[in-house]
Amino acid sequence: MTTIIDGNDIADGIRAEVSACTDTLAESDVRPGLATVLMSDDGASETYVSMKQRACEETGIAGFHHEIDPEEPAEVLFDRIEELNADPTVHGILVQMPVPDHVDKREVLERIDPVKDVDGFHPENVGRLVAGNARFKPCTPHGVQKILAAEGIETEGKDAVVVGRSDIVGKPMANLLVQYGEGGNATTTVCHSRTQNLAEKTRNADIVIAAAGVPEMIDGEMIQEGATVIDVGINRVDADNEKGYELVGDVNFDSCREKAGAITPVPGGVGPLTIAMLLYNTVKAASIQSG
Ligand code: GUN
Repeated sequence: MTTIIDGNDIADGIRAEVSACTDTLAESDVRPGLATVLMSDDGASETYVSMKQRACEETGIAGFHHEIDPEEPAEVLFDRIEELNADPTVHGILVQMPVPDHVDKREVLERIDPVKDVDGFHPENVGRLVAGNARFKPCTPHGVQKILAAEGIETEGKDAVVVGRSDIVGKPMANLLVQYGEGGNATTTVCHSRTQNLAEKTRNADIVIAAAGVPEMIDGEMIQEGATVIDVGINRVDADNEKGYELVGDVNFDSCREKAGAITPVPGGVGPLTIAMLLYNTVKAASIQSG
């Protein structure tokens, strides 16, 4: 029997923990605050940021949303980050990626105060993660670890294949899987667009994590019987419906579901965990900053 993993259910448990933490912090007059900054007209990015803001409201976190016209020079964004770094009511800062081409993404990440970097993308936080001393684990890979733990899926000694090498998901995911300790100790292979014989690699994996941003690229022929299949992809593809698009993952769900031991759907799999772990990191940031 294949387990269809309910990401909303797992995320609800984490959100309840976050709410309990905000209640405890309130006793010391601390209200965690998250600032989101959007410098894009992209509809998907707008949707993600508004989902993050709504989740703040629901868990007692103060949400501050900032929009910057994507035509503005990079300095406008840098100045806003500076203000947010100095604002004591803001404990976490998230600049939604991607930013426009004329803005240097690395400079954006480096300008965010590392103790407010709830994405975990600042080089100091990336270094800490790699060193096994993470301050903020990046939200999506951390959410995948929470899914595996909630489903009782052991990683120790298992063969894990991460498909995709992005800074946001693939690289930190692989780093977490090879760390010592719970949710780690996996023999981890990172595959990407230049990988040869991809199916040979994924077929050997106990755990396949698809994060390449290519619609339905992993099909049933590419996984072994009983494998755990985690789909991080959220791709908008044209569809003949009211919205004109539908969301599909990087996994061909129908062909993998019969063969997999456990599989995440899209939507309702990893997505809700990404938001829950952002709230978790924001509360952690508030705890660190309030002493
Ligand atoms: N764009 C897509 N995913 C993310 C994320 O996790 N954080 C930020 N800041 N931007 C993103």
